[in-house]
Amino acid sequence: MKKENDQYIDHVQEAVRFIQDKLRPKRFFPRVALTIGSGLGKLAALIKPVATIPYAAIPHYPASTVVGHEGLLIAGYLEGVPMLGLKGRKHYYEVAHLPTPMDTVVFPVHVAASLGCRLYVATNASGGLKAQFRIGDLMVIRSHIGFFLPNPLLGIQHDFGGNSYFQPLADLYTPALRTLFRSIDPAIREGVYVALSGRTFETQAEVLVLRQLGADCVGMSTIPEVIIAHNRGMKTLGVSLVTNVIAKDGTNATSHEEVLGVLSSPLVEEKLMHVFRTFFQKIKTSNAEYV
Ligand code: HPA
Repeated sequence: MKKENDQYIDHVQEAVRFIQDKLRPKRFFPRVALTIGSGLGKLAALIKPVATIPYAAIPHYPASTVVGHEGLLIAGYLEGVPMLGLKGRKHYYEVAHLPTPMDTVVFPVHVAASLGCRLYVATNASGGLKAQFRIGDLMVIRSHIGFFLPNPLLGIQHDFGGNSYFQPLADLYTPALRTLFRSIDPAIREGVYVALSGRTFETQAEVLVLRQLGADCVGMSTIPEVIIAHNRGMKTLGVSLVTNVIAKDGTNATSHEEVLGVLSSPLVEEKLMHVFRTFFQKIKTSNAEYV
């Protein structure tokens, strides 16, 4: 059901105007939104900032509450690509008590779309379900299993103009971008990401089920954002960093501390920086619509 006076759209537009007021005087028009996940904060250092805005300063914008998630919007250039670096995201598990939690989770995606971003790139940390996966591996998301989280399109349609009511998800993760990203390094993997609500990590029995379903890595984010990005007409890419490898028998002995520890290791950070710098160089020279 559509709703005539949709306060959510008003809130998105208020946030958009607030950000535009900061960026327009600098003649800065972002084309890409890059969500920088748990502990992947070093990626933000790749952006030459034009303006840095704390989420908490932006009207209606959800501010993060998790350790390792800072809550900063960094507008600037990464290898010459004008972008919004979104450092820190809201997870469903943080806002599940609210009346419309998914609207909160995907608020930044609507803001990015309304600001003119044409490409949405999500990064996250995940547990590796596949025996071949190693800590520090990068996996491009080929497809996802999203039915363990509420679908972000449930409820009234937020009609921004042009976004579908029923949303096909064929080629949700843009094939050309997956190929481009994988061309950076043959060690980059591709696979299926499954998101659970958290905040628990998985039981042994759950892991065995997830493997049977065809999932290659498991996390707690990204899927709602990517669905909304697609619904708003953006191209999408999802990249997962494997921070722990789950045992063959299904035992997942990881902890948030271990995940953050891996993310802050110099080798992993160096690889991430190299791969993302190269990716945006390639984007810059591709003359794509989102540059
Ligand atoms: N499970 C769920 N989420 C995660 C994991 C995991 O093993 N590692 C990092 N995020």
